[in-house]
Amino acid sequence: MSVCVVVCVLPCDGLATCPGCTLPPAHRVLEIGTSSPVTHYGISGMMGELSVKDKELIRGSWESLGKNKVPHGVIMFSRLFELDPALLSLFHYSTNCDSKQDCLSSPEFLDHVTKVMLVIDAAVNHLDDLHSLEDFLLNLGRKHQAVGVSTQSFTVVGESLLYMLQCSLGQAYTAPLRQAWLNMYSIVVGVMSRGWAKNGDDKAD
Ligand code: HEM
Repeated sequence: MSVCVVVCVLPCDGLATCPGCTLPPAHRVLEIGTSSPVTHYGISGMMGELSVKDKELIRGSWESLGKNKVPHGVIMFSRLFELDPALLSLFHYSTNCDSKQDCLSSPEFLDHVTKVMLVIDAAVNHLDDLHSLEDFLLNLGRKHQAVGVSTQSFTVVGESLLYMLQCSLGQAYTAPLRQAWLNMYSIVVGVMSRGWAKNGDDKAD
């Protein structure tokens, strides 16, 4: 059984491919660590458009990942907790989420992982019509404001998403593919952030 080097605790079995795991850890951390575009989310308000090429790259890469959502989501959240362990404290479930390991083995937490992956799945399935998700995403942003998630944390989720894609896609993780996912995630999180801000405003009124 091979094991993701940086994710450490996660077996790669069940994932279609994980050639990224053969890279030295320092290389993989550096690649993610030097990625800057995650800070450029379209939080300004309008929903952006994706290019035909972006859509093609996203659909092609999601085809296999989307069939195996939970293991890929676990890689993503495992990375999220490495980048910001304080986020563990936001998950208040009946099974305790004090440590990363506790959290990743909590059925309720795994439900949240599934929920996140289903939102990504919905976005991939509506690339030509992301507007149809707007109300849902606004509401989702509001709910996250209410449970204490900051919009900066959405940025860290974006980095973790890219990390998961790199680990899972290996050599198919190219610069244009990375940018395409970043563009889509920016749109999704831009709308969630608008809902988040609206909730904060409503509370202040
Ligand atoms: C730092 C990142 C995040 C934290 C700490 C977080 C935390 C939470 C918490 C505490 C809940 C309520 C309990 C539950 O339903 O499990 C929740 C609900 C949810 N989250 Fe997140 N979340 C994060 C990011 C995201 C992202 C990026 C998405 C999707 C793109 C997402 C999708 C959802 C969904 C669909 C629900 C259920 C909402 C409902 O009940 O209607 N979460 N989240």
